Amino acid sequence: MKALVLLGLVTVASAKVFERCELARTLKAAGMDGFHGTKLADWVCLAKWESDYNTKKVKNLKDRNNSSLYGLFQLNSKLWCDDGQTHESKNACRVKCSALLSDNIQASIACAKKVVKGENGLRNWVDWRHHCEGRDIRKYVAGCGV
Ligand SMILES: *[C@@H]1O[C@H](CO)[C@@H](O)[C@H](O)[C@H]1NC(C)=O
Ligand SMILES: *[C@@H]1O[C@H](CO)[C@@H](O)[C@H](O)[C@H]1NC(C)=O
Repeated sequence: MKALVLLGLVTVASAKVFERCELARTLKAAGMDGFHGTKLADWVCLAKWESDYNTKKVKNLKDRNNSSLYGLFQLNSKLWCDDGQTHESKNACRVKCSALLSDNIQASIACAKKVVKGENGLRNWVDWRHHCEGRDIRKYVAGCGV
């Protein structure tokens, strides 16, 4: 019993990397399929290329404003979240960037919905443009029963 409890603690402390279909089901349950004209496969493809499904991914862009990208959807601290390090952050999602690294991805989903409602939609994400736009992306949700 003690061993099981310890194992649970170790699991909580490590980064959560989603399995493809687990992510597809979680995003579907959150209403991402069909959200503002997007498809579920768009989001799974986007998450694959932006973070490789790793909720803890952070990338410092080393730009003039010291902005970084956070979480599954690599949301930018210059525009969308506040990390306390980025010069003149707009924090349009009104969220701490650290909340976008949680195993519980609801904050990331809520912020991504706000991004996609903006004027460039999914084209806000460079990796979506390069790897998902105009491609056959059905394989990202294939076999997931969604
Ligand atoms: C840095 O922030 C300023 C002011 O918000 C903005 O005009 C500029 O484009 C930003 N630079 C970069 C590299 O993001
Ligand atoms: C830039 O951001 C990183 C974290 O993303 C932080 O550790 C560092 O202190 C920041 N640098 C400045 C000058 O704010």
